Amino acid sequence: MSSYVAAIDQGTTSTRCMIFDHSGRVVAVDQKEHRQIFPKAGWVEHDPQEVWANTREVAAGAVAKADLHVTDIAAVGITNQRETAVVWDRTTGKPVYNAIVWQDTRTQGIVDELAGDVGADRYKAKTGLPLATYFSGPKIRWILDNVEGARAKAEAGDLLFGNMDTWVLWNMTGGVDGGVHVTDPTNASRTLLMDLETLAWDEGIAADMGIPLSMLPEIRSSSEEYGKVRERGALAGVPIAGILGDQQAATFGQACLSPGEAKNTYGTGNFVLLNTGTEKVLSENGLLTTVCYKIGSNDTVYALEGSIAVTGSLVQWIRDNLGMISSAAEIEEHARSVEDNGGCYFVPAFSGLFAPYWRSDARGAIVGLTRFVNKGHLARAVLEATAFQTREVIDAMNADSGVPLTSLKVDGGMVVNELLMQFQSDILGVPVIRPVVAETTALGAAYAAGLAVGFWKSEDDIRQNWAKDKEWTPAMDEDRRASEYANWKKAVTKTFDWVD
Ligand code: G3P
Repeated sequence: MSSYVAAIDQGTTSTRCMIFDHSGRVVAVDQKEHRQIFPKAGWVEHDPQEVWANTREVAAGAVAKADLHVTDIAAVGITNQRETAVVWDRTTGKPVYNAIVWQDTRTQGIVDELAGDVGADRYKAKTGLPLATYFSGPKIRWILDNVEGARAKAEAGDLLFGNMDTWVLWNMTGGVDGGVHVTDPTNASRTLLMDLETLAWDEGIAADMGIPLSMLPEIRSSSEEYGKVRERGALAGVPIAGILGDQQAATFGQACLSPGEAKNTYGTGNFVLLNTGTEKVLSENGLLTTVCYKIGSNDTVYALEGSIAVTGSLVQWIRDNLGMISSAAEIEEHARSVEDNGGCYFVPAFSGLFAPYWRSDARGAIVGLTRFVNKGHLARAVLEATAFQTREVIDAMNADSGVPLTSLKVDGGMVVNELLMQFQSDILGVPVIRPVVAETTALGAAYAAGLAVGFWKSEDDIRQNWAKDKEWTPAMDEDRRASEYANWKKAVTKTFDWVD
């Protein structure tokens, strides 16, 4: 009997492999960062070959660290940064261009053209999404328009598209030698090309975007066996049995399995997802409607999502572009050196603003500066930006659902930052709860894979495995909360109208 399940988490900054036991405990982890390629202002790319090489390396690394044999592993799940688009040649296996990352804004012209006179909500009823540079469809169109010969090859059926889940799965299952070209509905729901009701590609939208259907992967459920690992190596022969976009995986791993349950993941960006059950709620307050998960032949579960483009990546920017700190952990130290933000607010609209604004014309701003402001105040403003942006999407969620959230489950890299967690609770006015396993993204993908092969029996196993580590409760008085938030809102207005 195999006693473990593995998960590949192909994220925005790194790829990792984690191995979990039956109680959902982490047994081993291996991780490798990949290059962030910025060819021009607003452009963000990854090298898909580098990402695939890293995937193989971390899979081998995790299995070796856990000292396991391949027969100890019952299944592997895949989770991934969503929307990031790869187009490759099915006969050579080579990408025709770098992966265009979800944060990239180069498709603004395509998006505006598609919106035309109808506006950004042209496809919202069908896809749950506004037209924005964030999603995959316009990125595919850009590649077909701009890479020499790509459109002709695509029309001849020689090119394949995938988000990172599909790219990794296709390679793991043999690549040019019979690789499986499949995705799941959580990833497909981020392309602007999938009908949320039927979970099928929408031919009309694909035609509007000039994307041949032959490029698109088959949409299967989030939990079933897609194939076995074909390449030689650490996971050879193990069934690949789960795919969930990383934010949906975190929702699943956090056991937000009933309508009304929500989580917030603090990664490169922040993503709040509220499970709305089998009901597909269309937002009137700037949130996305997305597939939360589809387990085998069970009914599709939907979510409302508040996507925030820049949170953890702002700390990275402070480290890498300004050199103000040498490690991400240092930001908390600086922030603790002062009482408050000293009147300084930092709105990191580096990729425009996502939810609830969807303003692609916005660019980052630091406001409220005086000679009093020092490094500590700036560090605080950086951390507080994450909490304020979260408050904005939670307000939108409360307005959409009509039922105010009473607590928030959190996970992801930044939740080790206690100052941020306390401020988050202060600015929301509700408790913030961190689970014992904060790596819920990989865990969620492992659960999807493990359920498919019978390693876990039902979603009740997931509920039972979830355990609280720490809870922060609001300590800020109501007046201060209101005035801080009002200042933030004012700061946001200073970022508008920077780009045509
Ligand atoms: O939608 C983008 C999201 O999936 C990226 O997540 O954790 O890689 O920043 P992360």
